[in-house]
Amino acid sequence: MDKLIIEGGHRLSGEIRVDGAKNAALPLLAATLLAPGTHCLVNVPDLRDTRTMLKLLEGFGVSWHRDDDGTLWLNADTVDNFEASYELVKTMRASVLVLGPLLSRLGRARVSLPGGCAIGARPINFHTAGLAALGTEFFLDEGYVDGRAQRLSGTTVYFDIPSVTGTENILMAAVMARGTTLIKNAAREPEIANLIDMLVNMGAKISGRDSDILEVVGVDELSAARAAVIPDRIETGTFMLAAAAVGGEVKIMDCCPGHLPALTEKLHLAGIDIDHGDDWIGVRRNGSELKAVDVKTMPYPGFPTDLQAQFMALMTMARGTSIITETIFENRFMHVAELRRLGADISIDGHSAVVRGNSNLHGAHVMATDLRASASLVVAGLAASGITEISRLYHLDRGYSRLEEKLCRVGAKVRRERE
Ligand code: EPZ
Repeated sequence: MDKLIIEGGHRLSGEIRVDGAKNAALPLLAATLLAPGTHCLVNVPDLRDTRTMLKLLEGFGVSWHRDDDGTLWLNADTVDNFEASYELVKTMRASVLVLGPLLSRLGRARVSLPGGCAIGARPINFHTAGLAALGTEFFLDEGYVDGRAQRLSGTTVYFDIPSVTGTENILMAAVMARGTTLIKNAAREPEIANLIDMLVNMGAKISGRDSDILEVVGVDELSAARAAVIPDRIETGTFMLAAAAVGGEVKIMDCCPGHLPALTEKLHLAGIDIDHGDDWIGVRRNGSELKAVDVKTMPYPGFPTDLQAQFMALMTMARGTSIITETIFENRFMHVAELRRLGADISIDGHSAVVRGNSNLHGAHVMATDLRASASLVVAGLAASGITEISRLYHLDRGYSRLEEKLCRVGAKVRRERE
């Protein structure tokens, strides 16, 4: 396993380029199962999770290659297997995204029931209930969710909670269902719009993009398409928070400023200077005082749960006390114990963390527990005095590519070592 060694206190200055969004690339890759032919995906990030999804697709019969410029070509002429193995699914619960496309293409899907993860139980009941409403019969067999459907039929699917991958699964199941499907209380994250754009390019008939009511008129077949993965708003936000934490002036390139309304607002309130163009965000903190700001995570366009841990790292240094409330996942405070090891003063009260600021963080050995918690420790380590060592880096590698390289390019002192 790898670890990250950070020498804190070095202000950041310069330009950082963000990659394509992990949480957009995964559904787009799964969508290639829907149609034969050769699909072309650009801006797909090279991450542990996207490599896992490509392994899953290979198992179903998809062949692929990546050009030198990173363009991915995937041929789905032959999709003749419908089973996603426990070995792969246990490493990435987003494997559940193959359920909808396999049921659409083959009328059959057998996916190992994804286990929970550090941040919560992560059930998939909304996925299976929606697919069952479309005409799928499910069996639980030796820990596998086994679904069969002659031909899916359009209906109305209502989400109690606007599930991101749940919405994506139902979209991919509805595009070739007989008749019309209405998805109500659908998630509105930008990654959903990215998937809708690809499905429409493939010949799907979908209306309501960016809203919480999606209408899908089923078609008989789809064809292979080209799609571009949107910039990663969570990677963008992580770099914004890193610059705010350690100070300096950073320009984040190839991003989508409009995808971060809540974080931008909260950083303004905290006293951070932010400006932007069409595809860049500038973050400046030159000695200005950092003010404590409360945050409550909500579905998009609310404050993203995937930036909660990184924002908390920033608030440990702010003047005053901030209350950070996590409403999406039941156990997403695993980073608190590790931040305390760096000198943070945080107490947990149910779904809220009370962050008493003004902490001068000092480097220590800490352990990554999940993807975004590890990003939080990077943000804190950059600002802490002395050396911070972050172990179990495989968590970070799931969602960030070449992070230490990107940070060093703007003045951070970070290196990766074997544990
Ligand atoms: C997606 O997960 C993201 N993953 C997560 O990013 C992100 O944190 C989450 O959306 C919320 O924005 C991908 O897109 C691959 P949900 P997802 O279904 O779809 C409950 C990261 O760090 N729920 O929107 O799994 C669920 O437990 C990851 O990149 C059910 O109860 O999240 C949660 O409390 C972490 N039953 C809430 O709904 C279900 O069937 C929202 O979850 C599905 C979800």
